[in-house]
Amino acid sequence: MAGEWFESVAVAQRRAEKRLPKSVYGALIAGAEKGVTLKDNTSAFDLLGLAPHMANLPRERNMATTVLGQDVSMPVLISPTGVQAVDPYGEVAVARAAANRGVAMGLSSFASKSIEEVAAVNDKVFFQIYWSGDKDTLVQRLERAKAAGAKGIIVTLDWSFSNGRDWGSPWIPEKLDLKTMAKLAPEVLARPGWLWSFVKSGHLPDLTTPNMAPVGTKPPTFFGAYYEWMQSDLPTWEDLAWLRSQWEGPFMVKGVCRVDDAKRVVDCGATALSVSNHGGNNLDSTPAPIRSLPGIVAAVGSDIEVLLDGGIRRGSDVVKAVALGAKAVMIGRAYLWGLAANGQAGVENVLDVLRGGIDATMLGLGKASLAELTPEDVLAPDGFFRTLGA
Ligand SMILES: Cc1cc2nc3c(=O)[nH]c(=O)nc-3n(C[C@H](O)[C@H](O)[C@H](O)COP(=O)(O)O)c2cc1C
Repeated sequence: MAGEWFESVAVAQRRAEKRLPKSVYGALIAGAEKGVTLKDNTSAFDLLGLAPHMANLPRERNMATTVLGQDVSMPVLISPTGVQAVDPYGEVAVARAAANRGVAMGLSSFASKSIEEVAAVNDKVFFQIYWSGDKDTLVQRLERAKAAGAKGIIVTLDWSFSNGRDWGSPWIPEKLDLKTMAKLAPEVLARPGWLWSFVKSGHLPDLTTPNMAPVGTKPPTFFGAYYEWMQSDLPTWEDLAWLRSQWEGPFMVKGVCRVDDAKRVVDCGATALSVSNHGGNNLDSTPAPIRSLPGIVAAVGSDIEVLLDGGIRRGSDVVKAVALGAKAVMIGRAYLWGLAANGQAGVENVLDVLRGGIDATMLGLGKASLAELTPEDVLAPDGFFRTLGA
């Protein structure tokens, strides 16, 4: 079964669950506290209806667009996700898959592969940073990303360091030495396909974060990087404006839920924002991004590119978000499951599934281009939308 084409993101998820050790799969599922937001992120899309036509449908559909200055083949970007022991080639495999499908990629500063390796195989990479370390450190990371060829910056600000998950957080080791290998052995040996992929690649899962240290120095472990972030000052709006002034070119702020925050992001000079709640990993009970999107688009959509991430599992979700005003969406778990199911080919498979779904939805709605999509294409139940901070 591993290595075979799959027809939906749901199938990719089931394969990921079968293939990955329990704690690795658990780290992908995640979701803060009770998972109220995690659930709403996906189920909110199910509440939105579509109104198809059945004749005069367009033979050609064009879903190409431009996001953060990059021409992309569809309105879907790879959202940055932190160090994952999902696949031996990790973010490099994701970057290759995205490049093969004309898709741009956000690379996490907590990634397990360096920005240099990733930008070498995909020329549409945006480097994601947290407000971690002091200003000199942040500038050094921006300069490194620029030198490596990053086309833009994504600053992620939504994180409240919450812990305590009702589903039980998986144990993630500090590093993979013999002692931790022995502890993990039962669940790893139950997943021989995953283990074999690392054996074939010639190395064990790497739990370090090479982008968190200057080139040529020893990278911190995931927990070392996380500790630095936890100890750092919490950024002010002035800090954000300062950070923006340190980077020439596209600059996205990820994690916006409120209209008032969206306006401050515009004031800081950002070129894009993503309506997001960190995939349900920040404050539980935050509404799904798709509920907050129209209010934010109405307030700042003519000043800044508005993206959305959270809960995208099929092409029709993408079309609903674009119809409600998103320039594009970003995906997280969907591509991680593809990566787990079948490496680079699995990520390509997920992107193809989404492309096929976008195309079918545009056909059904009778739309030849993304620009023709409007909020009238989406049927929302009364009280569906949430406008926070207006
Ligand atoms: C396992 C995992 C790790 C993540 N790591 C990061 C990260 O390092 N930086 C970041 O900005 N967002 C991170 N995110 C959030 C994603 O970029 C994105 O906002 C979220 O996954 C979107 O929701 P979706 O998974 O439903 O598509 C992570 C999400 C997951 C599931």
